[in-house]
Amino acid sequence: MLQATEKIWHNGKLIKWDDAKLHVLAHVVSYGSSVFEGVRCYDTMRGPAIFRGPEHIRRLVDSAKIYRMDVPFTVEQITQGMVELVRANNLQSCYIRPIVLRGYGDMGVLPKHNPIETYLACWAWGKYLGDEAITQGVDVCVSSWTRIAPNTLPALAKAGANYMNSQLIRMEANSNGYAEGIALDASGYISEGSGENIFVVRDGKILTPPLGASVLPGITRDAIVKIAARLNIPVVETIIPRELLYIADEVFFSGTAAEVTPIRSVDRITVGKGSRGPITEKIQSRFFDIVTGKAEDEFGWLLPIAGVREKQPVGV
Ligand SMILES: Cc1ncc(COP(=O)(O)O)c(C=O)c1O
Repeated sequence: MLQATEKIWHNGKLIKWDDAKLHVLAHVVSYGSSVFEGVRCYDTMRGPAIFRGPEHIRRLVDSAKIYRMDVPFTVEQITQGMVELVRANNLQSCYIRPIVLRGYGDMGVLPKHNPIETYLACWAWGKYLGDEAITQGVDVCVSSWTRIAPNTLPALAKAGANYMNSQLIRMEANSNGYAEGIALDASGYISEGSGENIFVVRDGKILTPPLGASVLPGITRDAIVKIAARLNIPVVETIIPRELLYIADEVFFSGTAAEVTPIRSVDRITVGKGSRGPITEKIQSRFFDIVTGKAEDEFGWLLPIAGVREKQPVGV
């Protein structure tokens, strides 16, 4: 269950958690007109820090632009709003959910008099696919549902409506006993998980589907590409046939929620040795070292929340 915090940021002001309410006839409820983000704030050695905050908010504003929603705040203002919010709720680590939506006004598909509302909320959150998933890996399936096709719902926008497709994928996987489902794109090539990008490793090379395969341009996906480059592991963006999942040496998911999660089987076919592979482990450990502040923040990905208590050194 969601753990309530004290404050939510609404159109530039901090309001009480319980006051962040919508009318049932708000445009978003009938027509799915929201764009949103999922961001993590990590408990680092130097206090809490938001991972790639400006990049997430840039994607939020991009998503809004695709849907002709005018957000009356800049990327900097919303990013600063996230910092204020985490500080006000006094959290060491949390998940942050920015949402831009069409609110209450007219009723009808054309949003003529529906205000744009911007919200930021945050709460404490653990591992998305379970604590063990990070080390042991997860069992997944290829979904019978196809990912949203080009020129239907735009995949580059992180819109609430896209997650009706994600729900179908995730619920089907769940009811068949899998941790997650992998969707194919409209051409039958690998797209992504219901809430994660995917990477396939074979012969020391990492492959990941291109943006044209109906994938969300993941912020973690981009982080993996940059980390792999530093580790001299080649990454190729290319269309990937489904069957490569079965003969891959390693497969893993990336995402804000899933972080870097190994996949140990697909459709009950064991991937590689059936446990976290060496390339996944290398990337994963570099990723966690950066986000927890153990390694130097060489890419400038951490935005510190000044004002929340820094960790005290452990006395000896
Ligand atoms: C459909 C989908 N793909 C990929 C991702 C991963 O993106 P990110 O790394 O920016 O969280 C997410 C999560 O936001 C998602 O919902």
